[in-house]
Amino acid sequence: VVLTANASAACRLVAEAFPFGPDSTLLLAADNHNSVNGTREHARRAGARLASIPLDDSLRLVEPERALRARRARGPSLFAFPAQSNFSGARHALSLVTEAQRHGWRVLLDAASYLPTADLDLRAVCPDFVVLSLYKIIGHPTGVGALVARNDALRMLVRPWFAGGTVRWVSVAHGTHRLSDGAEAYEDGTPAFGLAGGVAPALHAAVAADRDRLARHVASLTGALLDGFAGIDARGAARVRVHGPRGAHGRGGTVAFTVHAPDGRAIPYWTLETDARVAGIALRGGCFCNPGCAEAAFGLGTPRAAECLRALGDDFTIPRFAAALGGAPVGALRVSFGLGSVHADVARVLAWLAGVAERHARPR
Ligand SMILES: Cc1ncc(COP(=O)(O)O)c(C=O)c1O
Repeated sequence: VVLTANASAACRLVAEAFPFGPDSTLLLAADNHNSVNGTREHARRAGARLASIPLDDSLRLVEPERALRARRARGPSLFAFPAQSNFSGARHALSLVTEAQRHGWRVLLDAASYLPTADLDLRAVCPDFVVLSLYKIIGHPTGVGALVARNDALRMLVRPWFAGGTVRWVSVAHGTHRLSDGAEAYEDGTPAFGLAGGVAPALHAAVAADRDRLARHVASLTGALLDGFAGIDARGAARVRVHGPRGAHGRGGTVAFTVHAPDGRAIPYWTLETDARVAGIALRGGCFCNPGCAEAAFGLGTPRAAECLRALGDDFTIPRFAAALGGAPVGALRVSFGLGSVHADVARVLAWLAGVAERHARPR
């Protein structure tokens, strides 16, 4: 276990040290947080082949097993995917880890949004690298993250540098150094031990909670929200479009959606985000650092979207991007449930949405 500043730092440790070369492939799920997407820049620089597994209408991976069988080059190759999407809440099959390893891939599993409400049994599936945000597990907004790696996976990495705390010795005169063994070689500088000291008790508290009950509770809240959306649709004033799995199965407690006025037009997420804030509801809007999901949800993978991005250059803002695409939706709203959520929260969001629908139904 390597303690890191956050999950992004854990991704970077792997990305910069993975021995990518012209004979390597980096296979990324189209559903990935940017902290995993960034891995591609290291792979690209090393001349590795880049490949991606696309998403279907429910933002589930399209035939991932086929991609795992088909795409790997001869050299060290990496497959990276999230256990749970931070955009859609979709849970991708953990069996992909073993399947990928069977075909010779090293696997990076992003468990950052999965672990707060689900358990990962490393005896059942053992990814080469697991990245996570420890602070998310206990519901804190910031803290420390971790890279959990298999010893053999850690040994195949090639650290591109060294720092204080990671070396057995360094010679300035001879320009040589020797890294420490194992995880120690990856904890650069003075660790955040003020925070790290809190990890064990915090995890203890999280694990001591009845995790099965938590999972049932989150599923129940998620189901209630999705059912409530259907109720709003049924009244005909506005339509709520869910981006991701429409049912409560095979998903976690994260739900992304857009609201459409009776004329079919999507109401810009940023106006609704502000509206919700005024109503005392903290919703997040946008693509949530997961552009692959947004591209699949809103059809932004087109040459036209690429041209708009290029033309906007430094003048890029989300509203300008949306305007350049003729007012098309470019981001969603997101509700996430966890340990602290209760059914009254669902009722509050639904009541707010019903109000939004009513306002947009009124003739202006
Ligand atoms: C799925 C996923 N991966 C990675 C990250 C990055 O985590 P951190 O902010 O700890 O670097 C996030 C953050 O929300 C996330 O949801």
